[in-house]
Amino acid sequence: MVMKISALTLSSCSGKKFPPDFKFGAATAAYQVEGAWNVSDKAASIWDTFTHNNPTMIADGSSGDVACDSYNLWETDIQLAKDMGLHFYRFSISWPRLLPNGFANKISEDGTRYYNNLIDGLLANGIEPLVTLYHWDLPQNLQDLGGMTNPLLAEWFGAYSRVAFTLFGDRVKTWATFNEPVSICGLTYETGYIAPGIYSPGIGSYICAKNLMMAHATSYRIYDKEFRAKYNGKVGIVNNHVWYAPYSSEYEDLTYLARQLGFIYSHPIYSKTGGWPPSVEGIIAKNSEEEGYPTSRLPKFTAEEIEFVKGTADYYGMNLYTSRLVREANNSTFFLWPTNGDLDLNLDLLADPSWEVGLDWLVIHPPGIRAQLNLIREEFGDVEIIVTENGFSTSSDELDDVTRIQYLRDYLEQVLLAITEDGVNVTGYTAWSLLDNFEWNSGYTSKFGLVRVNFTDPFRSRTPRASAEYYADVIRHHSL
Ligand code: NOJ
Repeated sequence: MVMKISALTLSSCSGKKFPPDFKFGAATAAYQVEGAWNVSDKAASIWDTFTHNNPTMIADGSSGDVACDSYNLWETDIQLAKDMGLHFYRFSISWPRLLPNGFANKISEDGTRYYNNLIDGLLANGIEPLVTLYHWDLPQNLQDLGGMTNPLLAEWFGAYSRVAFTLFGDRVKTWATFNEPVSICGLTYETGYIAPGIYSPGIGSYICAKNLMMAHATSYRIYDKEFRAKYNGKVGIVNNHVWYAPYSSEYEDLTYLARQLGFIYSHPIYSKTGGWPPSVEGIIAKNSEEEGYPTSRLPKFTAEEIEFVKGTADYYGMNLYTSRLVREANNSTFFLWPTNGDLDLNLDLLADPSWEVGLDWLVIHPPGIRAQLNLIREEFGDVEIIVTENGFSTSSDELDDVTRIQYLRDYLEQVLLAITEDGVNVTGYTAWSLLDNFEWNSGYTSKFGLVRVNFTDPFRSRTPRASAEYYADVIRHHSL
């Protein structure tokens, strides 16, 4: 494979080393790669139901029924991870595969075996598992009971977490409870475009937000009380961030609010005071009152709940792909996606014309990652941060993926600068994704893989791209 290095802009950080303990990984998620949607006793998730009932909502009408067939090809995936020299592999557990009833009264033997095999196989090859408990595939039967908008979610998720910690906690030392609350609640309920396909902007999204925070904290506290002494692992949550900069100087205040909004799922956990970011909470309460609601559409935390959620993370998981400029809404929208509350804040999120546009929403702006890492530290102190996702997608199947290499190099350089120049406590970086996979509403049309997957091949053959070789090189030298 020939890599067109000459076509790349050489980084000013070339040769600069990442700290010795810094770890490199790659990520996937259960619904996006596993397939085997109905084998053995696995029950349906909301994504099974959504894709089967609404194929027109998916760009190519596809589903994750087979996906990368990682349920059967997990050994190949481990080999690919090993060939790249990954220190860790981030994957998620499918809740309805492990608990076919959604509830903890029945644990699937096949589901348990599958995740045991994967975890043991990784460890046997010197790769640490970083496991996400919830990457969007809620058991359908729990959705039928209200899903994320039912306050019993905390109880259900707590019980599921306890099962996972009990079965795998001896070997899994880094856990993430929820992947991207802003997608689970904001993107979901503010558009209705993704599973479970319910449109409830400014209401369902906020009810979900509170329940998710309570469910996360319940899971963390279970680990703390019942498992930490034995297993000494870490539990955190993965937030998706977009770097927000003002469109022009008159929008500095609005940009501050947009950034606070971006911390809606972080403030309750990582801030000293806990609870929703006060500025955002105030605006939503005011809007709600003006609209005649007797209480705020964003459910309040009680004083006891604030304490319960506060401090429930051992690290800060950050996904970041892109940046936006903030200005007041004037209907010329180029949205990333609605976050929770951008309707309440009356924001437009735009790309700077000088930023290169990748596929769809993925506008390239490497300095954004350094700026956001600094902002997190400014806001919440010297918390350990793991970049849990960053990556680039294309519509083509190309193996010589020069643009992806350039993207990775430039973003990694900014992460390195955040560490070496700014002293931000970043301990790991995760490329999304190990494999091309089912990219939600884009189906298989948007390819994020360091490794190409041939989805027309019944064997789902995998071929490493040039970017896999580049990443392996970065890992081997521990530098750019
Ligand atoms: C965020 C999500 O966690 C992941 O599932 C998705 O595929 C990537 N970003 C790319 O959109």
